[in-house]
Amino acid sequence: MRRVVCPGSFDPVTNGHVDIVARASLIYDEVIVAVLHNPSKSALFTVDERVELLRKVTGKHPNVRVQKFDGLIVDFCRANDISAIVKGLRAVTDFDYEMQMAQMNYNQAGVETLFMTTNPLYAFLSSSLVKEFAKYGGDVSKLVPEQVLEALDGRLSRS
Ligand code: PNS
Repeated sequence: MRRVVCPGSFDPVTNGHVDIVARASLIYDEVIVAVLHNPSKSALFTVDERVELLRKVTGKHPNVRVQKFDGLIVDFCRANDISAIVKGLRAVTDFDYEMQMAQMNYNQAGVETLFMTTNPLYAFLSSSLVKEFAKYGGDVSKLVPEQVLEALDGRLSRS
């Protein structure tokens, strides 16, 4: 069984994330989307809300599971018999930090990281920019799944 993990904060999940998860699900037997629970970082959505949104938007892929995690991703990999991390690379700006994390994870635990190039449609996209534009009335309807758009509307109209 070739099982991989797509880890991230997913606050919130964007169309760029969904694209990477969907493409990974065509290559591997099972894809676990692992949502980082980091209480020291403030987030717009709770980890359970992020997990729920991800479950809704990846529901059509039967070999995709969504789970939360805390601590090190390599420990999550060990505990779940995962041999590789799959990440999307948007641009060279992602490269330095992603390579550093990939090498550290391999050095510490022998866990490989495989990079997929992001769909050019989403090369500029990040959860932070989605939140910023949504907060000030920007139109992010083409950048996030419908369920996320509704969740953003609900959350931001209350704040
Ligand atoms: O969506 P993000 O915030 O860019 O995702 C970053 C994430 C969650 C993939 C990365 O920070 C991570 O793996 N965190 C878990 C803690 C860990 O293992 N840190 C060491 C990385 S070398």
